[in-house]
Amino acid sequence: MEKYVIHGGQPLHGQVEISGAKNAAVAIIPAALMVRGVCRLENLPEISDTDTLLRIMTFLGARVTMINRSTVELDCTHVQMDTLPSQMWDMTRRIRASYYLIGAMLGRFGRARSTMPGGCNFGVRPIDQHIKGLTALGADVRTSGGFINASAAGGRLKGGSVYLDKVSVGATINIMIAAATAEGRTVIENVAREPHIVDLANFLNSMGADVRGAGTDVIKIRGVKSLHGGTYALIPDQIEAGTFMAAVAAAGGSVKVANVIPKHLDCISTKLREMNVEVEDGDDYVLVRRDGPLHPTNVKTKPYPGFPTDMQPQMTVLLCSAPGVSVMTEGVWNGGRFKYVAELKKMGANIEVDDQSAFIQGVDRLTGATVRACDLRAGAAMVIAGLAAQGVTKVEDVVFIERGYQDIVGKLRALGADIACVDEPEERPAEESAG
Ligand code: EPZ
Repeated sequence: MEKYVIHGGQPLHGQVEISGAKNAAVAIIPAALMVRGVCRLENLPEISDTDTLLRIMTFLGARVTMINRSTVELDCTHVQMDTLPSQMWDMTRRIRASYYLIGAMLGRFGRARSTMPGGCNFGVRPIDQHIKGLTALGADVRTSGGFINASAAGGRLKGGSVYLDKVSVGATINIMIAAATAEGRTVIENVAREPHIVDLANFLNSMGADVRGAGTDVIKIRGVKSLHGGTYALIPDQIEAGTFMAAVAAAGGSVKVANVIPKHLDCISTKLREMNVEVEDGDDYVLVRRDGPLHPTNVKTKPYPGFPTDMQPQMTVLLCSAPGVSVMTEGVWNGGRFKYVAELKKMGANIEVDDQSAFIQGVDRLTGATVRACDLRAGAAMVIAGLAAQGVTKVEDVVFIERGYQDIVGKLRALGADIACVDEPEERPAEESAG
């Protein structure tokens, strides 16, 4: 089994190129099912979640052509399947984003059947808001025995109004996709405003949809008859960029984090500055530098433009090395998303978790240990901890990390980190978890 072996203590220097946004890619690939024509997608991240989705699309009958490592042409013109066949269930159960296929198949065929999605294990992950939204578009949606069945009355969805009881990225995306070709106008209120919501809207619009308001809390969609092909370049990954920023802050050094939209990073940059990390915004890059001691601070995760929950574990690692007391509060996921704290304690972290908050007493230095990646972002946090720690850290279950980070080992090595991916026997069986 592959694991990362990190000899900590090397400051990071140089430039890192951020890849395309994972959570935009995993929405846009299923949305391409709505399009009759060739979608050329550029700046696609080379990660296992996109690979899984492209394999599902191929199985459904799409023509998938890799043009280069970050560009793919996806032609769903001749796709006819509205049911995910059993050979695909293992894959659809592995990733969260597979539920976007429900919105896309419903929108295109008026019927959809798939498994319940998988994803990172943060406790209960309900899909009631997805069902509420699709029902408002005239679909009859039923879940039973681990499957979702949905069908539109009369074979085509009809525009409708929906107010989301909870701000949900996934529900906003699923309803947007389904509504793009519904008959009439859809209004979705209390929607998520993450950069990937805007990216999906821009993708749909460049394929002929009429989606307005993405980035605010009300999205209005005028359904069109059909979507046509086109070329679309995805935005850079906000969380990958934030992860590298946190890595520099933890290990020390000076790095240009390139191919980013600095505005998307504001909430992260602000917190890092509070912690005595220098962050300078350029047009499409940020310069991150840390040579003095870190300062403690308090962070609460919130939907965008708040501090992202997907940066919570990486930030907690950083707070471990800030002398004094810091509090990290999880404001998006009930159940806390703090499973990884037990791993961090093996490295000498002083953290107490109480319900939705982690109380962190900074220590002089973390020490190397063998730890596991509990999920995607928790895994990235363990890598950061290893870079900052004294001695050798081994991170197991890296398969979770590779679902969302393109070549994290190569990118860190290029910055001077002493990290390698090695094949060693695993000490215990891995769990499933993604996205
Ligand atoms: C997306 O998950 C991301 N995944 C997650 O990133 C991210 O943590 C999350 O958004 C929040 O930003 C993908 O985009 C594939 P939500 P999603 O629906 O859509 C509750 C990563 O590391 N809720 O916005 O599943 C839910 O329980 C991954 O890249 C309902 O109550 O998240 C949570 O408390 C991990 N009912 C809150 O809303 C619903 O029907 C936000 O969830 C849906 C959600």
